[in-house]
Amino acid sequence: MADNHHPSPVLIPPPSQVQNEAHVKSMDQYREMYKKSVEDPVGFWGDIAKAFHWESGPTGKFLEYNFDVRNGPIFIKWMQGAKTNVCYNAVDRHVKSGNGSKIAFYWEGNDPGDCGKVTFSELQDKVCRFANVLKSLGVQKGDRVAIYMPMIIDITVALLACARIGAVHSIVFAGFSVDSLTERLIEPKIRFILTSDGVWRGSKLLNLKAIVDSAVDKCKEQGHVVDHVVVCRHLLPEEEYVVNDRDVEERPGQRPSPQLKIEWHAPRDKWWHELVAAASPDCPPVWLDAEDPLFMLYTSGSTGKPKGVLHTQAGYMLYSATTFKYDFDFQPDDVYWCTADVGWITGHTYVTYGPLLNGATGVIFEGVPTYPDAGRFWAIIEKYRVSKFYTAPTAIRTLMGFGDDFVTKYDRSSLKVIATVGEPINPEAWLWYYNVVGNKQAAVVDTFWQTETGGHVITPFPGATPTKPGSATFPFFGVVPIILNEEGKEVGVDVEGYIVFSQPWPGVMRTVYGDHQRFETTYFKKFPGYYTTGDGGYKDKDGYIWVTGRIDDMVNVSGHLLSTAEIESALVEHPTVTEAAVVSHPHSIKGECTYCFVTMKNGSTYSPELAVELIKQVREKIGPFAQPDFIQEAPGLPKTRSGKIMRRVLRKIAIGDRNIGDVTTMADESVVDILFKLRPDTA
Ligand code: PRX
Repeated sequence: MADNHHPSPVLIPPPSQVQNEAHVKSMDQYREMYKKSVEDPVGFWGDIAKAFHWESGPTGKFLEYNFDVRNGPIFIKWMQGAKTNVCYNAVDRHVKSGNGSKIAFYWEGNDPGDCGKVTFSELQDKVCRFANVLKSLGVQKGDRVAIYMPMIIDITVALLACARIGAVHSIVFAGFSVDSLTERLIEPKIRFILTSDGVWRGSKLLNLKAIVDSAVDKCKEQGHVVDHVVVCRHLLPEEEYVVNDRDVEERPGQRPSPQLKIEWHAPRDKWWHELVAAASPDCPPVWLDAEDPLFMLYTSGSTGKPKGVLHTQAGYMLYSATTFKYDFDFQPDDVYWCTADVGWITGHTYVTYGPLLNGATGVIFEGVPTYPDAGRFWAIIEKYRVSKFYTAPTAIRTLMGFGDDFVTKYDRSSLKVIATVGEPINPEAWLWYYNVVGNKQAAVVDTFWQTETGGHVITPFPGATPTKPGSATFPFFGVVPIILNEEGKEVGVDVEGYIVFSQPWPGVMRTVYGDHQRFETTYFKKFPGYYTTGDGGYKDKDGYIWVTGRIDDMVNVSGHLLSTAEIESALVEHPTVTEAAVVSHPHSIKGECTYCFVTMKNGSTYSPELAVELIKQVREKIGPFAQPDFIQEAPGLPKTRSGKIMRRVLRKIAIGDRNIGDVTTMADESVVDILFKLRPDTA
């Protein structure tokens, strides 16, 4: 990493309509609150905790931790001994305070016109009944429950019902393949799966139940038995199908979908609606310890094996609620819409927990941004008068490519905050979002965070922070970011280094499920005393933080973090491939994409047909979102004398840059020329 000389762009002040009503109205106010949060975290978070329900208070220290591997095992504990229930705080608390008739979620289906809504009281009823269903199946506190469901209101019911009884939910994004789902069921020995018959994603029909069936079979082959599969009916037509959470205005589209066929395996499979019909709506919450697990969520690991990131009760609750309140500047009459799938961390924290803990009205969208056309997002914003909107840079770039007319034909005057997450946002996309989508009236909030951080860690405050397009700006309360060089020394202004955090905030993950050592090695070993993000970045002369991207073997494709090792192992499973090396390649819409070098086994020859097969193999092993963009033959790979693949050289070859830098450690330089010659024309 080298020195950078970055131009200082113009500062964009917070829009006055946002600033006037904001919780934080100025940088002075932000700095004062921030100072307290890092100097007196116990006092700061202790005050915030007062807004929530605690069945009983902490019995030990409010905060206890070790962030330094040299001093023993890493641990982080907030509010030890306090008893609470996150579901109670997210749902019952609002019903109790008289807000039961407020809309908790509007639901917008894949096809325009297919929609519904649920109030906080209705949500409470659904959650309690479903929690009783889980109990009747034998789910107990601490049991892991897998959720493989589409974007329907019931997925939030599933999460909340688990949280209500202390079961640990583990959502697997319903775009992961059979193999990825299987792997995520086996490691935590999951016996309960909640799924749906199927889902339309744009014009594509996905048979979720069939994927679950295959995964359960594969588990069995490996000696693990799944006892219960609860199927939520979403697409299948049935006479007795009760549409109880949707006001179906009209159904011009594809639901119900008679073309969907599912197999039924009794007694393992059960219909969700049949179990719920027999369940009582009365289900007292289980009071849980502040540090009991709330959920686990797998994220890619640089070794190729996914890590089960574990979050706990009190800290995650405080952090998801507080970041939601301040970073979207939540106001009670807001209609808030986060487009992320509940299957990713953004959908956990900012579709479900953060908004519900604040009593917000949210939108859940089942479809995709370009179906039926590229105006869908803006049509939904007009329809519900969305005031706070949260999406990904890749979606912004995609829609930007369709031109402004798709945006401007809809009324977006309700928008006050327009936020992004998932990857660095390029200034061009940022400015389009600000100028065209927000019409210069809405604050752009670029939030940097990770599955591991639980919630935003670097983010503007919409009513206070003057923004610079492309910078995630400043730390959230309680977060202390530092930029280190390879030797662990803090770097100066404009110098790129590793982004680390020096003290715990309430939302930081507590462990990797079943592998605490991996947690310590991945996040705390490289720089003792710090949590290492794996991202690079720098601070400019005004203290603004610019995140430049991953500096480990991870690639961020359309905001989905993938490990190159995981793709490599999918490639080498092909009978003709002996070795593979995958690197990141810039992509105008996805941000990054993957470029794969494959070495053939003796006797096998490379062909364009093989490339197609390999792409298919990666889709099947991991999921369609992991599909490589480029495959090239590599008779040899550039390696050091000790045999380590030199990825920085491969990255240069992938983009056709002959300036490959220092090659003195390379075992055989002749491979470089060969690889340049074999580059596909399209790259
Ligand atoms: O590289 C960073 C990138 O996404 C990674 C985290 O991915 P994941 O755990 O899947 O969570 C995504 C949603 C929080 C980070 O290590 N990333 C996320 N947000 C930003 C970002 N990079 C730059 N700017 C962002 N705003």
